[in-house]
Amino acid sequence: MRILVATASKHGATREIGTQLGSDLSTGLKERGVDAEVTVLDTNDVDTVMDYDAVVLGSAIYFGRWLKSADKLVDRELMYLEDRPVWLFSSGPVTPGDKAESSKWATVPWAVEHHMFGGKIDRSVLNFAERLAMRALHAEDGDYRNVDEIRSWADSICTHLTARTVR
Ligand SMILES: Cc1cc2nc3c(=O)[nH]c(=O)nc-3n(C[C@H](O)[C@H](O)[C@H](O)COP(=O)(O)O)c2cc1C
Repeated sequence: MRILVATASKHGATREIGTQLGSDLSTGLKERGVDAEVTVLDTNDVDTVMDYDAVVLGSAIYFGRWLKSADKLVDRELMYLEDRPVWLFSSGPVTPGDKAESSKWATVPWAVEHHMFGGKIDRSVLNFAERLAMRALHAEDGDYRNVDEIRSWADSICTHLTARTVR
């Protein structure tokens, strides 16, 4: 089974979630006896999802939207995404109690599920406009991603994929 984990990331936080998902999926499927090859790519580097049996696709959220390269991938590959199991995730909220606004991805009929992970803010890597936006939102530097939450989501994907292979 070939699995693609593709992420769109501006400052690296979402890419790191993708890297952990890739590693957790490899381990989880191996533990379940499923022969799987997991590829982790930036959305800019994905030619087509056609060659994969399952896809995990995620993007950072900026001003309420996914990054363009993730949106473009969906527009371009929708025909193939509709035809295989797909899990979507977003990385965004950067304040502890923040309830992320539901993106359009939460309700697309062709995805098994959409998951919202927390994000990370490190003002030292933001450009001037981004720093201004963060100041206006009173967002503090912090990492609101959760390793256990990522592992647990990967685990649920492994369970789903394993059930498909033994059916
Ligand atoms: C300028 C700016 C705008 C942002 N807008 C949103 C937003 O609308 N909703 C949200 O949940 N998070 C928002 N965030 C938080 C980012 O999604 C979060 O920092 C994410 O982890 C960034 O991922 P990346 O490092 O992969 O680019 C914003 C961050 C910045 C710097």
